[in-house]
Amino acid sequence: MLSYDAVVIGAGAAGLFCAGLAGQSGVRVLLIDHADKVAEKIRISGGGRCNFTNRGTTSAQFLSANPQFCRSALARYTPQDFLSLMQRYSIAWHEKHKGQLFCDRSAEDIIQMLLSECAQGGVEHWQPCKVHAVRTVGAGGFEIDTDRGCVHGARLILATGGLSIPQIGATDFGFVLARQFGHRIQPTYPALVPLTFDAALWEPWLPLAGVSLSARVRTGKGKTAGEFVDDLLFTHRGLSGPAVLQISSYWQPGQTLDVNLSPHNDLGAELLELKGSSKRKLSNELAVMLPSRLAHAWLGMHPDGAEKTMPEQRDKDLMRLAASLQQWQLTPQGTLGYRKAEVTAGGVDTRELSSQTMESQRVAGLYFIGEVVDVTGWLGGYNFQWAWASAAACAKALVSRHT
Ligand code: FDA
Repeated sequence: MLSYDAVVIGAGAAGLFCAGLAGQSGVRVLLIDHADKVAEKIRISGGGRCNFTNRGTTSAQFLSANPQFCRSALARYTPQDFLSLMQRYSIAWHEKHKGQLFCDRSAEDIIQMLLSECAQGGVEHWQPCKVHAVRTVGAGGFEIDTDRGCVHGARLILATGGLSIPQIGATDFGFVLARQFGHRIQPTYPALVPLTFDAALWEPWLPLAGVSLSARVRTGKGKTAGEFVDDLLFTHRGLSGPAVLQISSYWQPGQTLDVNLSPHNDLGAELLELKGSSKRKLSNELAVMLPSRLAHAWLGMHPDGAEKTMPEQRDKDLMRLAASLQQWQLTPQGTLGYRKAEVTAGGVDTRELSSQTMESQRVAGLYFIGEVVDVTGWLGGYNFQWAWASAAACAKALVSRHT
């Protein structure tokens, strides 16, 4: 039977990075993935340009039942460390807003860099190759039944990601194996995903599909509350755009969203001021303050006085209109699910993993890295930074146990 120091299952962001790092330090690594194409999620990420990290990464941008868990790995492998690696490969990048870093050319640059790191580390890479079963062996390590036979790994690293986008290879394999080895799983749900509404209730908003504007979106209470100010997009099924994708990670079925459609202004005060200074109709003034399609649709549903001039408006009607726009409350019916979610929230419970090494506290030699772990980043490059950082922490542990 073939035998390796470490077998990594999952050749996505975390698995490739971990395999390359460990291999280059002398660990004999086998990397296995069942998908036809390598690292497809990196390829489609960031609109094809991969938002590969975020300069401002801290533990505050991650959700987890154990919020401090990710701190150590993130502190020991930083966005700057990843940039230094990219510099060695002369990969050009640029910063968009909010610290988000993207490739200038293509996400393919990152994939080729990771594959090259693996090649330099002498990593054996089986892909496509299915894994059928995994078991511990009495003498130590793990036996892994694959399409290409049974192999032995002194260590086993699960980097099989989450459930999002099953059409490109996502499976629950990591969770199934985690349970097999006695690990608890924090409940999983689609995150960074558009929100949907009851079709009949949403009908009045259908003409707004495609309208985008800056908004503040809130949900939840106390420690589980989320709040984001970013672009919101009306769609045929509901709401999307960065502000909504972000809040979806905090939203639980049945919860209400509080939406402020004019987060940078005091609409009430502005409308009252216009009452004294403008002779135009309310509908014309509101169409200057908001995207005009939104203003007209909104007044269509709050018709009192829309076609009257500003001086004809009653103060209380203007204040009511402002409140309806700045304290819009609505309850999503659901989300577009794993088929459209960028990530899976929840996952392998971190209270049974070492934050230093990602090793299981239940089964020696078993490690979990990347999205399979209950650490979920905000939109903006944080999820890849977690993949790199958790992979680096694990690789370091593999190397130190090897030497
Ligand atoms: P990843 O999912 O990358 O890899 C898991 C691997 O395991 C896959 O190759 C899969 O085939 C393999 N696998 C699964 N089951 C298996 C089995 N049973 N046997 C063998 N192999 C198996 N993040 C970010 O920071 N910036 C961004 O720009 C984006 N953009 C983005 C766009 C879209 C459309 C999506 C869906 C996601 C993003 N993300 C993102 C999230 C990011 O892609 C994600 O968090 C990381 O890829 C997670 O890396 P992992 O290596 O953990 O899993």
